[in-house]
Order: sequence, then C-alpha cells, then structure tokens
Amino acid sequence: MATVYVLNGPNLNLLGSRETAVYGSLTLGDIEKLCAAAAKKHGHVIDFRQTNHEGELVDWLHEARDKAAGVVINPGAYTHTSIALQDAIRAIGIPVVEVHLSNIFAREEFRHHSYVSPVARGVLCGFGAKGYELAIDGLASALTA
Ligand code: DQA
Repeated sequence: MATVYVLNGPNLNLLGSRETAVYGSLTLGDIEKLCAAAAKKHGHVIDFRQTNHEGELVDWLHEARDKAAGVVINPGAYTHTSIALQDAIRAIGIPVVEVHLSNIFAREEFRHHSYVSPVARGVLCGFGAKGYELAIDGLASALTA
C-alpha cells in the first residue's frame, strides 16, 4: 500500500460555485471522495490537500519525497507561472501527474503553456473530475511498472 499525495492549488477550494460551466459542479470534497475510491481500487491511500499559496505547494512536494510514492497535482494558475514548482518536481524524483479539470489548450493562450508538464510523468486535462481518477490510475500503473 502506497500513499499518493493529491495537491490542489489556488482557487480550487471554490469548486462547486466557481465558473461551473468551465470547472463543473462538484466540490473539492466530492473530488476527494472520488480520489480516495480510485486509490483504494489499487490498494493505495491518498493525502488530499488544497492551498492558495505557491510556497506551500513547494513545501508539500518536498514532504512528498519522503512520505509519498507519487503525487497528483492540479497547480491551478501556478501551472502557467511557477518555475519554483517545476524545480521542486524535478528535485523530488518521484512520479508527479499533472491534472486539470478543463482543457487548458482549448482556452486562453496564456493557459497553453505549463511549467509543470515538462517534469510531469503524465498530464491529463479536459475530463473534469474524472481526470483526477484517471491520474490516480495512471500513477498506480507507473508505480508498479
Ligand atoms: C485549472 C486550469 C488553470 O488554467 C486555472 O488557472 C485553474 C484550474 C483546471 O483545473 O482546469 O485554476 O488548473
């Protein structure tokens, strides 16, 4: 049994009421339940967190190096701005899967670039909350490969 960190960045605490046409109507609590069930299917457990602060995401990635087998991360808008997140993921050496609820490539041009993707084990976007489950499935396969 492994622990998977599921980390969520800024504004994702507002899911369920935030731009529901783009992000869907599930709350972050609903997504946590889906992730827990997806991980359980593979015999894993999750540690699910959200923060609005970039440095806290960096701290949690560092922590994951010792405490988790892998990470699923939706970095929110820090996806498009954060060299610090890219450096942290590069430094920890465990698989990190990037997930986005929306298809970032079908949206504004500033969302088309991700600092996280070049250091991610895989990337999922556009499948809404289902993407988190798929990310956990993908990570579980990577952990046994
Ligand atoms: C997001 C996409 C980002 O561009 C945006 O800033 C978010 C959410 C997504 O899940 O689709 O906050 O990561």
